Amino acid sequence: MSKFPDNFYWGGAIAANQVEGAWNIDGKGASVSDLMTYKPNIDVKNFASHHQFTTRSVQDAMSDNSVEFYPKRRGIDFYHQYKNDIALFAEMGFKVLRVSIAWTRLFPTGEESEPNEAGINFYHNLFDELIRQGIEPLVTLHHYEMPAALSLKYNGWQDRRVISLFTRFCRTCFSEYGNKVKLWLTFNEVDSIIRHPFTTAGVLEDNCGDISFEQACYNALHHQFVASALVTRLCHDMCKGARIGCMLTKTMTYPYSSRPEDVAASQLKNLNNMFYSDVQMHGRYPEMMLRMLANRGITLPFAEGDVQTLADNPADFLSFSYYMTRCESDDPDLERTPGNTTLGVKNPHLKSSEWGWQIDPIGLRVSLIELYDRYRKPLFVVENGLGTRDTVEPDGSIHDSYRIDYLRAHLREAKKAIDSGVELIGYTCWGPIDLISAANSQITKRYGFIHVDLDDMGHGSGVRRKKDSFEWYKEVIRTNGASLEQ
Ligand code: BG6
Repeated sequence: MSKFPDNFYWGGAIAANQVEGAWNIDGKGASVSDLMTYKPNIDVKNFASHHQFTTRSVQDAMSDNSVEFYPKRRGIDFYHQYKNDIALFAEMGFKVLRVSIAWTRLFPTGEESEPNEAGINFYHNLFDELIRQGIEPLVTLHHYEMPAALSLKYNGWQDRRVISLFTRFCRTCFSEYGNKVKLWLTFNEVDSIIRHPFTTAGVLEDNCGDISFEQACYNALHHQFVASALVTRLCHDMCKGARIGCMLTKTMTYPYSSRPEDVAASQLKNLNNMFYSDVQMHGRYPEMMLRMLANRGITLPFAEGDVQTLADNPADFLSFSYYMTRCESDDPDLERTPGNTTLGVKNPHLKSSEWGWQIDPIGLRVSLIELYDRYRKPLFVVENGLGTRDTVEPDGSIHDSYRIDYLRAHLREAKKAIDSGVELIGYTCWGPIDLISAANSQITKRYGFIHVDLDDMGHGSGVRRKKDSFEWYKEVIRTNGASLEQ
């Protein structure tokens, strides 16, 4: 196996709502993620029922200032410790760090006419520190961080007016940071709107007025597509030399068997998954999807100019998260297993993580080849990793050979995809430092090369420790992937 391409973006990915903490200081407002409670015993096979927010529950959570059961409010205190953490990333040789800008640090309710200066300064300091340490920022503009106030007032992205509020936030980001940040992403996992509409888009079922919840979710999705295109144009206009991508949860689905019924069932799942990147990469809705939605009684809220806006502003590259694959079948009795808030038929050929996510390195190669063949634009793996418990030995060491095995296997497959001709420009594994999980708000589901001494209730010193995987990843980066052969 030869090396990865020159200038390959090696690094890691985090999100503001899962690391920063400091949820209500220096003028920050409450985001949708700040309202998410600790859910260790979530029934992963019924994920949606655990994430049902109502107007009342949002109001209650907003008037509750406690932190104990809201782990994302405390994160890992990256807000205060970012310099130390960045120094550790630099020690590993990171070329890039994916972060997000919390909308609520700049615009606490989303509607202020001027941005919050303390928030603006925080991200200047963060980007300056990254650049000082030789790490390029890759910035997501929308990662489950919309102002909760917009959910109550507009039912989030259901309302078209949120497009202009978001583009104003992005305009501020580009004008403030455009000379420091050259890699941007619009919406994290835009497809997740259908799985958890509140955290992705602020949509509340009891706040939809006279339209159905499903219709409200598709309205929100359309508005995010239009916003993504407008922001792509804005970025090109305002940030010379920058590239801006879209982002997909890649949920590759295999037929459970070669029975045609299973093939047909998995085909629909895959088409549905790539519908989201189709719109953003091709600049138009797939005709078949439009008809499929129409057949279900869903009308997309196209306004004058939307078709042209989408067509004129496709993403520069496609980024995606990849954690696992699943199967599909028409047999309702087959065992199903969860994975990143989705549910699929269990694959008898794969092992699963403790959280039930099926580990499939070859599926990453298959995904890369499929996506590159479909879009023919650069790809960027911006999330991949194994969330699992770690044991701290009495001497403080953490032997996470399972994490190394997972990442090594995935990176070898990524390299095979590159050798097959795929243009993969970077790889940022998820959670290079332990952080609060998105779905359950647990920190004990750890992804990091760097351990954070905190438990699920926030008890602990917060001290950072290097796991065995720290030196391993450092060597992978130092050798530009050549050490993966060992
Ligand atoms: C991705 C999200 O879907 O999955 C991240 O973009 C999230 O925010 C990651 O953390 C892993 O999921 P979880 O639930 O294990 O944190």
